[in-house]
Amino acid sequence: MNILVTGAQGQLGHALRRVSADSSNEWYFSDVLAGDDVVKLDMTDRDGVEAFVLEKDIKVIINCAAYTNVEKAEDDEEFAYKLNAEGPAVLAAAAVRNDALLIHVSTDYVFDGKGCIPYREDMPAAPVSAYGRTKLAGEEAIAASGCRYMIFRTAWLYYDEGKNFVEKMLELTASRPAVKVVFDQVGTPTYALDLAELLCHIVEENLYSVSGIWHYSNEGVCSWYDFAREISSMAGHLCDVLPCRTEEFPTKAARPHYSVLDKTKVKHDFGVEIPHWKDSLTVYMMNKS
Ligand SMILES: NC(=O)c1ccc[n+]([C@@H]2O[C@H](COP(=O)([O-])OP(=O)(O)OC[C@H]3O[C@@H](n4cnc5c(N)ncnc54)[C@H](OP(=O)(O)O)[C@@H]3O)[C@@H](O)[C@H]2O)c1
Repeated sequence: MNILVTGAQGQLGHALRRVSADSSNEWYFSDVLAGDDVVKLDMTDRDGVEAFVLEKDIKVIINCAAYTNVEKAEDDEEFAYKLNAEGPAVLAAAAVRNDALLIHVSTDYVFDGKGCIPYREDMPAAPVSAYGRTKLAGEEAIAASGCRYMIFRTAWLYYDEGKNFVEKMLELTASRPAVKVVFDQVGTPTYALDLAELLCHIVEENLYSVSGIWHYSNEGVCSWYDFAREISSMAGHLCDVLPCRTEEFPTKAARPHYSVLDKTKVKHDFGVEIPHWKDSLTVYMMNKS
């Protein structure tokens, strides 16, 4: 079976390249720019995507490509929409043409974060940021396309390759005596390798049965402050990590205050055991050293 991964130079894309290394299937990795073992394919290029999917007889597309800069999206919603909504629509149309399955990755930011119990897949989405709106539009475009699809909403993703909160905190807590981190935004981190393993397992074992949405993050709940403390402590940094409120760090994009995802469905449907975020962070730190 032939599989196409888009956004292969990003965090999740890199993690998928790693976990699929021993697969007997044929994996093609693509991104908007070519790289080592990565072919150039702009997911918004309708003709290019369709030609690639038909020529290589792609049967599964895993879309890791996206516009992920939440702050910049506020000033650049049109371009974010092109990547996060029109791009997935192009992939979905190509999937329909070749009867392929589209596995797409979305976000906890489709919710407004005003809840206080973990978000299930069937709860109403109400994004409060441009990024969240464009990602929700991507989900809707896929669902309307008629393709076979699986959408995985994830949160607070990190991996060695890429700019992410863990890398930022490692840098700050190594170089400063103290850092303030918000404690009134609560969610769950996700080590990209854990999600990549699940996606690879689904593809390798052919576990698709019906189109739908699933939530996936690591287990547990924490604030960005708790997360930062753990990162600093695991790294052995002596930095004082201090809690502060969101108002102390005004940002253009509104962030959900509570964005914990309920993972009952993914655990039930695929029989996965999800690691706790602290255990995955430990693995990540060990993999780095
Ligand atoms: N990061 C998070 O905290 C987080 C949280 C929740 C959900 N997610 C979702 O998880 C998925 C993976 O996120 P990630 O952190 O791995 O993203 P990422 O590191 O930002 O990677 C995205 C990749 O897509 C590429 N790309 C951009 N435009 C493209 C185009 N037109 N055609 C093909 N590729 C294109 C990017 O290239 P350039 O870098 O050159 O633009 C980049 O290599 C995304 O759908 C994201 O929305 C992420």
